[in-house]
Amino acid sequence: MKIVLIGTGFVGVVSAAVYASFGHEVVGLDIDERKVASLKKSTVPFFEPNLESLLKEQQSSGNLTFTTDYEDAITGADVVMIAVGTPSAEDGTADLRYVLAAARSAAPFLKDSSILAVKSTVPPGTLQEVKAEVDAVRSEHGASGSYFLASLPEFLREGSAVHDTLHPDRVVIGADDQFVFKTLTDLHKPLQAPIVKVSPESAQMAKYAANAYLATRITFINQIADLCKKNRADVDEVVQAIGLDARIGDHYWYPGFGYGGSCFPKDVKELAAYSRSIGEGDNLFNKVNDLNEERIERVMDQFSKTVGGWAGKKVAVLGLSFKPNTDDMREAPSLKVIPYLIQNGASVTGYDPKALDVVPQFLTEEILGDPSKLALSTTIEEACAQADVILALIEWSQIVSFEYGKVRDTSKDQWFIDARNQFDKATLQKLGYSYTGIGKS
Ligand code: UDX
Repeated sequence: MKIVLIGTGFVGVVSAAVYASFGHEVVGLDIDERKVASLKKSTVPFFEPNLESLLKEQQSSGNLTFTTDYEDAITGADVVMIAVGTPSAEDGTADLRYVLAAARSAAPFLKDSSILAVKSTVPPGTLQEVKAEVDAVRSEHGASGSYFLASLPEFLREGSAVHDTLHPDRVVIGADDQFVFKTLTDLHKPLQAPIVKVSPESAQMAKYAANAYLATRITFINQIADLCKKNRADVDEVVQAIGLDARIGDHYWYPGFGYGGSCFPKDVKELAAYSRSIGEGDNLFNKVNDLNEERIERVMDQFSKTVGGWAGKKVAVLGLSFKPNTDDMREAPSLKVIPYLIQNGASVTGYDPKALDVVPQFLTEEILGDPSKLALSTTIEEACAQADVILALIEWSQIVSFEYGKVRDTSKDQWFIDARNQFDKATLQKLGYSYTGIGKS
């Protein structure tokens, strides 16, 4: 089969490499010449474990190529997948302009009986918009033959994207035609995953519902954690107790500074906007979004009381990306935590195993106010030297497994803030730190 992935962002590159590994002829297509030039050399412009090696392997086998040429790529393709970005517009709605532009550019070259599948996260109704634009371009070009549409949502997580794509919990195929179901089922057979065949609208709603549910779950446990903090309960013990209820489960329950990343914040807002656009209430989704947006300031205010105020404190912030195993800074807690600390009179030394190169693009002078108050360190030792407070923000394994006795400064009192409840309180206390975590005293 010839497969084209339009958009060589996160989802596009990972999916292209995985489909190529099944032995298909796969083309990654992007209008960004610099990105394509670097992908041709197997260089990925972001950090994702195991991706570069898979890319190299599939490129040298000849199964995977990259191009900026629509005609070359689309001609003869059996399946064309659109995996471009859908940024949120001002009012929270999904901005479909890149999806529609990709569909228009591919339109003249779609062969008879090919499948045009949308992988980008889009609201119900999008395939009708895609069809209108594609049909208009095809009739302008006098293109012959018919094509099929499908929705193929993606559920991979950053930091484990290759693994998730190779071992998905399910593959959701949204279509209205048996030929499409059969072709896409065959394509995903090597994954040995359950295949859910539904309407395009159900597939699109499933993607929003999954992300909004997980975001709501995180918001829920964060709310419970705040109550625990006030009443001597320990949220980790609460999770242990509720998790054994099979209806609830013990996974995906860790509290923290709120959810971040490129999907949850955006998808919750989009679902609220979609709900409003069709005349339905958006109370739940809006509330989840508001609680998550307010969260960092609330938590930092709480910790301020614990550590005796931030003014004049030297704070080591460990973990700057939005989660471990990625250098993605989108909606990372550090982007709110560090300016908050500086504006409240602290000086900060930040450490991250992978994101240090990209941090300055996000933590600009405008955001920081006084950039001289932020230093970046390539080692945990350096970041923690003489710190009054160590704030372990993201659970990178380097940060969790570090021996904090090495940086304990016995000449002063030092606080250790465990923002992900990853550390053993007694061990840190034995080293001389004052310990505090989320949802526990
Ligand atoms: C998410 C979805 O998991 C994935 O299915 C979808 O395709 C894209 O969005 P991702 O954003 O890569 O993936 O990361 P994920 O590991 O799900 O974490 C999202 C955010 O929630 C992170 O900020 C993480 O720290 C936070 N989180 C996650 C919690 O605060 N607590 C948890 O229990 C789990």
